[in-house]
Amino acid sequence: MIDTRWWQRGIFYQVYPRSFQDTDGDGIGDLDGIRRRLDYLAGLGVDAIWVSPIYPSPMADFGYDVADYCGIHPMFGDLEAFDRLVADVHARGLKLVLDFVPNHTSDQHLWFRESRASRDNPKRDWYIWRDPAPDGGPPNNWISNFGGPAWTLDAASGQYYYHAFLKEQPDLNWRNPEVRAAMHDVLRFWMARGVDGFRVDVIWHLMKDADFRDNPPNPGYRPEEGDIGRFLQTHSADQPEVHDIIAELRRVVDEFPDRVLIGEIYLPIDRLVAYYGEDLAGAHLPFNFQLIYASWNAESLAALIEEYEGSLPRGGWPNWVLGNHDRPRIASRVGHDRARAAAVLLLTLRGTPTMYYGDEIGMENVPISPEDVHDPWEKNEPGLGLGRDPERTPMQWDASPNAGFTAGRPWLPVAANFAHCNVAAMLDDPFSILALYRRLIALRRVHPALQTGSYRPVTAHGDVLAYQRELGGESLFVVLNLGGETQRGIALPDGVAEGHVLLSTRLDREEKVTSGFSLRAHEGLVIALSAAT
Ligand code: NOJ
Ligand code: MG
Repeated sequence: MIDTRWWQRGIFYQVYPRSFQDTDGDGIGDLDGIRRRLDYLAGLGVDAIWVSPIYPSPMADFGYDVADYCGIHPMFGDLEAFDRLVADVHARGLKLVLDFVPNHTSDQHLWFRESRASRDNPKRDWYIWRDPAPDGGPPNNWISNFGGPAWTLDAASGQYYYHAFLKEQPDLNWRNPEVRAAMHDVLRFWMARGVDGFRVDVIWHLMKDADFRDNPPNPGYRPEEGDIGRFLQTHSADQPEVHDIIAELRRVVDEFPDRVLIGEIYLPIDRLVAYYGEDLAGAHLPFNFQLIYASWNAESLAALIEEYEGSLPRGGWPNWVLGNHDRPRIASRVGHDRARAAAVLLLTLRGTPTMYYGDEIGMENVPISPEDVHDPWEKNEPGLGLGRDPERTPMQWDASPNAGFTAGRPWLPVAANFAHCNVAAMLDDPFSILALYRRLIALRRVHPALQTGSYRPVTAHGDVLAYQRELGGESLFVVLNLGGETQRGIALPDGVAEGHVLLSTRLDREEKVTSGFSLRAHEGLVIALSAAT
């Protein structure tokens, strides 16, 4: 058996801490809330919890604007609460991964306050300052990811600073060795406190073109992508030098045993896989968001799986992400029936799965009325559907007021369907999507072929997608009907006489099958194959 690490065998579960569980009645989730729900997560069967930022922050971008990398926002708790969380996570055999936001700080971070104080401040070069263009405008044409120019003029010093996101999120200058050293110490600080690894925010942004050349126009621009889509990010991100920076981060992470480095990277597959680094000295897991953008039909899914599998560097470990706090929820993207097939894909494809909180109960995007909008992106570019509040609403625990999330007023509205779409109700329903997730996760434990076995495509035809996972003598056949019609006459792989259904997405059949079996509408099956005799 190959030697594998926990982050290869295991399942990651993303907690958006503001929305998971409130314990102090302020309507915002907190660290003690996560701690209170650890039994649920252990029972679900996930292995590692990634928590979005919990650091002191003015919350201009809900924690992705960090004002102190080595503290805890009082809204979430304090360092003692954090230590309690780490201890309780580890006591259950789980891992805890933090969100590390190195590309930018808050404009309230002490470093930036010093940096902007004057042109000769020792911290000036910790950020990206440039003189105005000859006409007095911004130094180049780069656009903020949240719309509008990526440069803001500091009138007092007469220079612009760069921010890939909000003007309240100035970009750090990673070409400056002092910045790198300070940020490496941040990683060490948390690892010494027991943290098992990091998800690194916008890691492909860390380096920008040394000459700050203009970005070229995007010929395929569609207005619904928002302002950022007007230009290709040729010079503002994904620069060759970023790989040295990541290799350094990796060396720091490797100073501590058995930690993981995950990179957030929105790039096409061929560029994404470069983030494993030369000789795999980069990120252990460059997040693979293909399933978030996939068209939900068998042929295109098969094609993207094949492209991804075929692009991985030798020894590079695959991973799959179905949802996160920045993209519409899976149940809203593909509908409830297909969300079940999506769960099967996520948990049976080769590679580490990352789940987003609430997807296991089929939570949907929640419509947000204009007066409830929090997300700065929605405020900057309203009405395009870019806002991220809909996928960040409170976790639905039970049918009590506010779904058991808070005794106060929740910071975002609770979904209208919470009376039946909640953890407590679904734990009592053996056919619920939560029951499906629990069964799939349990299957992965019992069948190592699902964790670390090989992947072999079998069919992608019409609405039917099928593949095999194999390890040692074990062979599992996964077959999905992505459409609403019954599919008849499905064949087992060549040379296989019969199989045994281990799981159906409908959770109502565990039986022997031979070639020629049927799949009901939207049904997916995991089948253990017996060799032909
Ligand atoms: C990616 C994060 O996931 C997103 O929520 C955030 O707004 C940006 N990075 C900026 O940090
Ligand atoms: Mg709270």
